[in-house]
Amino acid sequence: MEIEEFFNGFSKLTREQRFQRLLEMGALNKSDIDYFKGGGVHDLSLADHFIENSIGYFQMPLGVATNFRINGVARIIPMAVEETSIIAAASKTARWVRQNGDIKAWTEGNCIIGQVQISRVKDFDRLKEALARNKQDWIDELNREVALSMVLRGGGVRDITLRKVERGDQTHMAVFHVLFNPCDAMGANIINQVCEYLKGPIEVSSGESVTMSILSNLVDTKLTISEVTLNNIPADMGEKIQEASLFAEMDPYRAATHNKGVLNGIDPILIATGNDWRAVEAGIHAFACRAGHYSSITKWRYQNKTLIGRFTAPLIVGTVGGVTSLHPTAKICLAMLNVKDASELAQICAAVGLVQNLGALKALTTVGIIEGHMKLHIKNLTLGVGANEKESKPLQKRLEQLLAVKKRISHSDAWQILQNIRHSEPIAQETSLS
Ligand code: MEV
Repeated sequence: MEIEEFFNGFSKLTREQRFQRLLEMGALNKSDIDYFKGGGVHDLSLADHFIENSIGYFQMPLGVATNFRINGVARIIPMAVEETSIIAAASKTARWVRQNGDIKAWTEGNCIIGQVQISRVKDFDRLKEALARNKQDWIDELNREVALSMVLRGGGVRDITLRKVERGDQTHMAVFHVLFNPCDAMGANIINQVCEYLKGPIEVSSGESVTMSILSNLVDTKLTISEVTLNNIPADMGEKIQEASLFAEMDPYRAATHNKGVLNGIDPILIATGNDWRAVEAGIHAFACRAGHYSSITKWRYQNKTLIGRFTAPLIVGTVGGVTSLHPTAKICLAMLNVKDASELAQICAAVGLVQNLGALKALTTVGIIEGHMKLHIKNLTLGVGANEKESKPLQKRLEQLLAVKKRISHSDAWQILQNIRHSEPIAQETSLS
């Protein structure tokens, strides 16, 4: 069976049937399914390994987005997320893209950045000379003494550069950038070790005093790009999506919300695979400011019935090391994604983020997002007002009817309808509730 056929009607299946499908697809095995049925990770001693003062786990819903075909390969996307509409919107938009176009993704560059700061540099030009004289020796020493394991895997320190950064009082600080290929690791620990080690050689050969060393999350030396192409799009729709894109490109107030919508597709994959989503968020937001003001990280253009969208940003993730290799759920999710390396995982994140963004822009420029959100939100409202098992079905049905009439529903609508059900009052009154 073609993998796309496995996706057919996926959202209508019972949980048991979903497990069965994922088993048939080879996305999960029997022990993964038993693990999820048992409620996931319980081992509190594992939490003690991760953090100090642990008292348990915070359980977040984990689902799968369907219909994705990225670089010609069908993917099932694990997403850990609490926002009701995200997986539904991603899957629906991915189906639209699959039927009318394609998604490509690639990586430009392979080095992360570490910084070593000399805050009160005595002689910048002499420091520059020291770097020119010693650069290769420093790189060799760092690769031998700190990063040998990474060198053996094909990575390691590649370059060291020097920047002059204003202090804001007419004087300058000196900042070294260490460019480092971390292979399939996110590389935070190793680059920090490398930069801390470099303090010694710098101080000995220059007489300057190092203030601090740490990685940078603004990794503009390793960018992930994804591109969605959609054919035969009506002019009205294509032009409106382009206008929505321009709005976010030019206006920081809109860009913040627009980018949040992109991250709706990215963060849940990062969480599901045990990656550091704060680092990715920081990098993306910093990169979004590169033109001098906060802007969107995606861009959509419409021409000749074709709509093309592009995401460009640093997206530094790992597929080995840290939580990715230790948390049992992260391990299962990574296996489900079946990626060959960290760059491929980043490309999937970029592709899902761009598709999520497209889904939001399409909804915002046509029916609005309330309708779709609300349809999915009805279950939450039902739970929120405390309906029991018997009351849930009629309450959901009446909320759906009310939504069709009023185009919006609230917690108080749900509460009032529940009271009506409990006191067997006629349904007619409900449509007049605010
Ligand atoms: C909601 O989580 C995300 C959106 O606000 C994104 C957007 O406005 O583009 C719908």
